[in-house]
Amino acid sequence: MRHSREKPNETATIKMKLPPYDKFPSVSDSNIVLRQIELSDINDIVEISYYESIQAKTWTQAIEMQAKINVDYSNGNSIHWGIADKLTNKIVGTCGYYRGLDKGEGELGCVLLPQYRGQNYMTFALLLAIEFGLNNMALKRIWAITSKHNPKAIKLLEKLNFIKIADLDNKEVEYELKPFCSISLGSG
Ligand SMILES: CC(C)(COP(=O)(O)OP(=O)(O)OC[C@H]1O[C@@H](n2cnc3c(N)ncnc32)[C@H](O)[C@@H]1OP(=O)(O)O)[C@@H](O)C(=O)NCCC(=O)NCCS
Repeated sequence: MRHSREKPNETATIKMKLPPYDKFPSVSDSNIVLRQIELSDINDIVEISYYESIQAKTWTQAIEMQAKINVDYSNGNSIHWGIADKLTNKIVGTCGYYRGLDKGEGELGCVLLPQYRGQNYMTFALLLAIEFGLNNMALKRIWAITSKHNPKAIKLLEKLNFIKIADLDNKEVEYELKPFCSISLGSG
């Protein structure tokens, strides 16, 4: 039997599929869908529109930011999903991978509109994003950075099996998804 040393690497290369895609990927569970943000969504998400840590104050600024986000996606540097409630198709928040894709890694970021917090939307959105990152993008590492004074974000990350790996400058902390662990959530 002949063995080829190249085969596993070739397989890994083919499997890894990073943005941009022929069709923007939507992923869903029974209640939510992670989907592309449309022009008609922008009015609802001005207050959670950010680019380079600057928050949009107006619809026009949010449109400009979305255009830059779309360019980043086209250049393969990020993927940014709107999280829509399947019943209403309204955007409740956003999440995505914003850095690291050039190295086959992904920095996860997320934000919910205030009125949709405390309802588990983000827990399930990040489960979908993580599943997509591991199984479709073949990311080797998924991490997230937040303020050490952001207990909601820390609780969310720890619930999803992220562990703290570093204290950073500016009172920030870095969390990383534990490698090779299966994600399961308890009922409570
Ligand atoms: C971080 C953030 C997304 C977390 O939002 P969240 O609403 O706590 O997260 P989820 O949507 O997963 O909801 C989980 C919460 O809903 C609660 N919940 C779910 N169903 C509920 C119900 N029926 N009744 C009451 N509470 C309920 C859960 O107990 C949990 O609350 P807990 O953390 O106090 O236990 C949100 O605070 C946010 O957008 N912050 C600003 C941006 C930010 O900090 N991003 C993080 C960058 S890494």
